[in-house]
Amino acid sequence: MVKICCIGAGYVGGPTMAVIALKCPDIEVVVVDISKPRIEAWNSDTLPIYEPGLDDVVKQCRGRNLFFSTDVEKHVAEADIIFVSVNTPTKTRGLGAGKAADLTYWESAARMIADVSKSDKIVVEKSTVPVKTAEAIEKILTHNSKGINYQILSNPEFLAEGTAIEDLFKPDRVLIGGRETPEGRKAVQALKDVYAHWVPEDRILTTNLWSAELSKLAANAFLAQRISSVNAISALCEATGANVTEVAYAVGKDTRIGPKFLNASVGFGGSCFQKDILNLVYICECNGLPEVANYWKQVIKINDYQKSRFVNRVVSSMFNTVAGKKIAVLGFAFKKDTGDTRETPAIDVCKGLLGDKAQISIYDPQVTEDQIQRDLAMNKFDWDHPMHLQPTSPTAVKQVSCVWDAYEATKGAHGLCILTEWDEFKTLDYQKIFDNMQKPAFVFDGRNIVDPEKLREIGFIVYSIGKPL
Ligand code: NAD
Ligand code: UGA
Repeated sequence: MVKICCIGAGYVGGPTMAVIALKCPDIEVVVVDISKPRIEAWNSDTLPIYEPGLDDVVKQCRGRNLFFSTDVEKHVAEADIIFVSVNTPTKTRGLGAGKAADLTYWESAARMIADVSKSDKIVVEKSTVPVKTAEAIEKILTHNSKGINYQILSNPEFLAEGTAIEDLFKPDRVLIGGRETPEGRKAVQALKDVYAHWVPEDRILTTNLWSAELSKLAANAFLAQRISSVNAISALCEATGANVTEVAYAVGKDTRIGPKFLNASVGFGGSCFQKDILNLVYICECNGLPEVANYWKQVIKINDYQKSRFVNRVVSSMFNTVAGKKIAVLGFAFKKDTGDTRETPAIDVCKGLLGDKAQISIYDPQVTEDQIQRDLAMNKFDWDHPMHLQPTSPTAVKQVSCVWDAYEATKGAHGLCILTEWDEFKTLDYQKIFDNMQKPAFVFDGRNIVDPEKLREIGFIVYSIGKPL
């Protein structure tokens, strides 16, 4: 029986391995992590992440050929294929701070693999890493190899949160990069055989290592660029009376452009787009390509602009001050169907409103008050560096309250901001909300999910991204 061990039981490691275990009953899969609470949660009825369909997959194979453990060294030593799916955040200090990827977690995983291995291993980069990381990993492993043969593969993950299980069941493509040597090709084939259990052959792409590593950064940069493009146009729509939904539809009808990923928003969030683009920018700078670096930097700049534009719109429409006013925030997660708040635009919007001394009442169906308070108290980029985490209680923001109901959040509020596109926000009783709000009652729809005309009929003053006022 082939044995797989995955280091890192996070948003990628957990769901990816659960699907491999489900689709490959002949393979034993163990997911290991240094975080005891995370592993305990994976072994409990309340999984550590919320992802539609995940519970069902885990229930089917946990204890059969899927296991979660903190005994990292034992399972790494026993495995034939080791996936490394640890976090690769943005560096917060030293050389490249604020841009370069912090490979501390990756390096410590690689050193541990070198320490405990007694048989040949295929080591798979699942985390998103700078191009050429495989070379560094190879050095660490082979310098400590004790005669063991290591093959490094790059197999970046393209799943999106909220649709992870769907994406893993039916991936657009699986990408595998390896060395172009007989041993490298054999390792690529071994990983191909795993995916071939359920992914059609023509969707499994093989490339050289550097192409695979760079394709992941490029794919995220292209996706984020589309959002910044439509968001940039949304500002022009507001200035001219065009409607961004109509513009995006007309543009996306061109089959060369396509309709997906053209929803104007308060800005993109999530743990990866910003981090991966900053990483790409840093790599370009290190390779003497400042023009290319500046091109991609602009995608982040527009995203920051979109978030501050939203805050400015809220404050300026409400007579240039929100001091002491209650603002309801509906949605805190970075997108619907996830409880993940990493780099969510809600953090910047809330911080902006707090800067103007607003009283904020937040409701998100999946995010806890603890998480929200931690997010609002944390410095930029600190969220993915567990050792820098600040305690919650002393820094908890007093002007923020969190409630478990949209009607409670909006009661007595002067304004209402929709920051995540949860389906339930589309069908709220807005008449009831209006009746219980201060007047004039403002709605700022950062996701374009409500019909501005219907809300105006009720009596709201409505601002939607990229739509006529
Ligand atoms: P995560 O923070 O949810 O999970 C990473 C896990 O690795 C944590 O539980 C951490 O405790 C563990 N870890 C760190 N160092 C370890 C070590 N030395 N030994 C054992 N465990 C260790 O991160 P994630 O969202 O799963 O992302 C992981 C990687 O995948 C990142 O590089 C990210 O860019 C990439 N990625 C993420 C997504 C996504 O949707 N979240 C999608 C594609 C790619
Ligand atoms: C993204 C990519 O879609 C995945 O392919 C990739 O694997 C992953 O990053 C990663 O590397 O981590 P994810 O961040 O989970 O996935 O979610 P997306 O659906 O891409 O949304 C990202 C952000 O963009 C969200 O805040 C979302 O609301 C926003 N968005 C998305 C828009 O504002 N408009 C759109 O049209 C689409």
